[in-house]
Amino acid sequence: MCRLELMGIEKTYKDKKAVKDLTVGFDNGVYGLLGENGAGKTTLMRMIVGILKPTQGQICCDGIPIQQLGGAYRSLLGYLPQDFGYYKDFTAVRFLNYIAALKAVEPETAKERIAHILETVGLAEYRDKKLKTFSGGMIRRIGIAQALLNEPEILILDEPTAGLDPKERVRFRNIISSLGKKRIVILSTHIVSDVAYIANQIILMKHGQFVKTGTQEQMLAPVSGCVWKCTVPEEIAAELNETYAVSNLKGYGEQVELRIVSKKKPHPDAVMVEPVLEDAYLYYDI
Ligand SMILES: Nc1ncnc2c1ncn2[C@@H]1O[C@H](COP(=O)(O)OP(=O)(O)OP(=O)(O)O)[C@@H](O)[C@H]1O
Ligand SMILES: [Mg+2]
Repeated sequence: MCRLELMGIEKTYKDKKAVKDLTVGFDNGVYGLLGENGAGKTTLMRMIVGILKPTQGQICCDGIPIQQLGGAYRSLLGYLPQDFGYYKDFTAVRFLNYIAALKAVEPETAKERIAHILETVGLAEYRDKKLKTFSGGMIRRIGIAQALLNEPEILILDEPTAGLDPKERVRFRNIISSLGKKRIVILSTHIVSDVAYIANQIILMKHGQFVKTGTQEQMLAPVSGCVWKCTVPEEIAAELNETYAVSNLKGYGEQVELRIVSKKKPHPDAVMVEPVLEDAYLYYDI
């Protein structure tokens, strides 16, 4: 088990500050980095894995700066990049053997580990199939498999659920939850429900900064009393939609049901409802 600490991390690309003064510590568990496009998730992850050097600040593993640890730190890492590249004509097993060789895993160890990891990600029966025959979800799982080859203590997954169908999504959540028991798992996504189900800790990121960090309960607590539901005619719904943060909108003929995040009651007929993480995401914007 190790502890990862980010202290005052910043990244500036030319004149663009993509990540601003972030300080956070990670222990075993699943951390969900939630943020819209351009929030700085990939930039942050690339700094954590050491591909990108912070413009300012320090990243330490067990109290030692990661650049000082060098190869010892890299051997603790597993990384699934957002733009994960693979060889289409390789079979699953050949591809994993190739990555194992790159990671300097001994061939005998690699053989055993690959068999075990393919079981973990539910691809054992496809081991000899070429990757070009895999679905998007299967490719994501191969991506996770390659990140696990060196038995990492820190697993960084950049948008691992992108393009997964609902069934794949559930399977994926189960894999991640079990991986998070023994290591640090940091995953990024812009899909609120993904972090709601898997992450022990949620980090809400906007414009390069952390807006809110905590468990789902902690994220939801301030939102309690600020979520409303009302069913109104279309034209009133349009007005409310202009004025308030609307987290959901459903049409029933002439009537529209709205779910609104607001500190004050948005409409005389509005009733207060329990918040969910989607509402919290909007709440921290208002
Ligand atoms: N190499 C680069 N040069 C200049 N600007 C960059 C570079 N990489 C990222 N940026 C900018 O930094 C900001 C953060 O980008 P980043 O890719 O980290 O966001 P992200 O949260 O991963 O977004 P997405 O959800 O789209 O993957 C964006 O405004 C982006 O345009
Ligand atoms: Mg990204």
